[in-house]
Amino acid sequence: MQSGRHLVNIALIGFMGTGKTSVARLVAEQLRFDYLDTDEVIQTNTGRSITEIFTRDGEPAFRALEQKVVAELASHTRTVIATGGGLPVFSNNLASLKTHALVVSLWSSPEKIWERVRHQSHRPLLLDKNPQAKICELLAAREPFYKQADVLLNTELRSVREVAQQVIHQFRLEVRRR
Ligand code: S3P
Repeated sequence: MQSGRHLVNIALIGFMGTGKTSVARLVAEQLRFDYLDTDEVIQTNTGRSITEIFTRDGEPAFRALEQKVVAELASHTRTVIATGGGLPVFSNNLASLKTHALVVSLWSSPEKIWERVRHQSHRPLLLDKNPQAKICELLAAREPFYKQADVLLNTELRSVREVAQQVIHQFRLEVRRR
């Protein structure tokens, strides 16, 4: 891991439906850290839902809002950050997160992701006539970015509790190493 980083936060990246929100909440609770979700911050700041932003203003407008939130995260400490699935792919978001957070990538197969998201309707990118193909396509395009995380965790066969324990273990190891 690169030196010169000041790891005071934990950021979870990964595709929609890999468990970022549930894991981040549990890690925050166990470490007594704050919890923050970039999508929630965008919705609070704008007073609009993610779907509304996507459909009215388009994805580039959403990504600009997302980048602004990422820049502001650098001023946080003791915070577990759950990020939107596309966040590490755009701008310098990933590099920015890495300056202050241990970046953990949660990974699942397209089949498992589909199983988790198929009954949800709040994800504009999956409002596609063939959402399963869309998942495969986006996952393949994003994989190189997700793999740049400090830690990769497959969440498919692990409970939220187990994944949270792994995240905490890796964070403590890294803090001790410094
Ligand atoms: C997106 C994922 C969503 C949300 C937006 C775009 C993506 O967050 O940011 O719908 O590009 O994958 P979750 O990963 O929390 O669902």
